[in-house]
Amino acid sequence: MKIFLDTANIQEIRDGARLGVISGVTTNPSLASAEGIGNPESYKAAVREIADIVDGPISVEVISLDAKGMIDEGREISSWIDNPWVKIPSTKDGFEAISVLSSEGIQINQTLCFSVNQAILGSQAGSTAVSPFIGRLDDIGLEGIDLIKDIVAVYKEHNIETKVLAASIRHTLHCTLAAHAGAHISTIPYKVLTQMIEHPLTATGVERFKADWEKMAGK
Ligand code: E4P
Repeated sequence: MKIFLDTANIQEIRDGARLGVISGVTTNPSLASAEGIGNPESYKAAVREIADIVDGPISVEVISLDAKGMIDEGREISSWIDNPWVKIPSTKDGFEAISVLSSEGIQINQTLCFSVNQAILGSQAGSTAVSPFIGRLDDIGLEGIDLIKDIVAVYKEHNIETKVLAASIRHTLHCTLAAHAGAHISTIPYKVLTQMIEHPLTATGVERFKADWEKMAGK
C-alpha cells in the first residue's frame, strides 16, 4: 500500500518527503484554506511547490458544483504540474465531469465517496482512483473501513483497475486496517505519519543500545 500525505502544508510535505515513504499528496479546499490559500493563483503556486518536492501524483480539487465548471477547472488544474490528479466529487455532475476529463487522458481522484455504488459508477466513468472517506463515516456511527473492504472486493471480483485510495484517515489504526482491507493507497495527515513511526519499545531499545555501548567504551 502506498502512502500519500493529506495536507497542503509545505513544511509537513518537506519533512514527510525526506523520509522516503511518501508517494503522493492529496489536498482539498479545506486543507488549502487552513494554510491561508484562498484563491486559484495561490492554490496553483502551492501545488507547484508541492510537485517540486514530491515525485508522485498531486491531487487538486475542483470548487465548482456543475459539470461544465468542473471540466473547465479540471483542464486548467491539469496544466499546472506534470502529475496532477484532479479531484472530482461523487455527484451527478461529478460523474459527467469525470467521464469527459478522463476521456481526455486527465487522471481523476474521485472524492467524497461514501458507497460501493458511487465507486462502481466512478470506475465506469474513468476514475483513476476512488477516495472512500473512512473517518467521516465513523463520525456518523458507521464502520468506515467496511466501505474499503467492500469496494476492494467488488473491484477485484470485476477486474476493475481503479485504485482504492483510503481517505479521511484520522489515526494509525485506520491506516493499518486500510492496508489489511487491500487499499492501494492511504492518504494520511502528517500527524498520523509521525504516530506510525513511534513505538515505545523502539525508543527504549535505541537508548539501551546507546547506554550499553557507552558503558563498554568506558564513557
Ligand atoms: C483527501 O483526499 C480527503 O479530502 C481528506 O482525507 C478528507 O479528510 P477529512 O474527512 O478528515 O476532512
